[in-house]
Amino acid sequence: MWIIVPALYGLPSVPTRRDRIRAALRLADLRAGEAFYDLGAGDGRTLVIAAKEFGARAVGIEIGPVQYLVSWGNAFRNGVRSQIRVMRGNFYTADLSGADVVFVYATSRELVHLQAHLTSQLHEGARVVTVGSDFPDWKPVAVDREALLFLYVMPPVQSYH
Ligand SMILES: C[S@@+](CC[C@H](N)C(=O)[O-])C[C@H]1O[C@@H](n2cnc3c(N)ncnc32)[C@H](O)[C@@H]1O
Repeated sequence: MWIIVPALYGLPSVPTRRDRIRAALRLADLRAGEAFYDLGAGDGRTLVIAAKEFGARAVGIEIGPVQYLVSWGNAFRNGVRSQIRVMRGNFYTADLSGADVVFVYATSRELVHLQAHLTSQLHEGARVVTVGSDFPDWKPVAVDREALLFLYVMPPVQSYH
């Protein structure tokens, strides 16, 4: 599945391991009732974990039509449909103003392009957790070096090179 989907749509859809997602959500201190957003929802596994295990309201933004449908299917299958919303769209332009915690598994290049959008959209105190890559201009408030996770709180502290 995860070989065929990117081949069809030209998008890398590598899912994050579930234990790494749990570590990211713990690092971000995701609490029950908070709004959790995954930028590029993939198969929806982060949404299911955020809703089922952390009691969050989970929102996925996904550009790929197959991934979008798979995310919905996983929300139904796991019995958390009422806590999950998946939107077909582009995370560079999506409305993120309601997010308390944002999860991003993207390349360094994508993170560079996301910085300005996140700064303009997110409320003060919102947390952003990234997997594998960090924002070049922002200083993380916490890092999990083992799982390679980076946590930022808005407004982000600028890092000087
Ligand atoms: C590396 S996968 C991560 C999937 C999931 N977040 C996870 O961690 O398991 C990245 C996902 O982002 C989606 N994507 C890439 N660019 C996007 C964009 N501009 N807007 C919305 N989704 C995008 C891809 O289709 C893919 O499903």
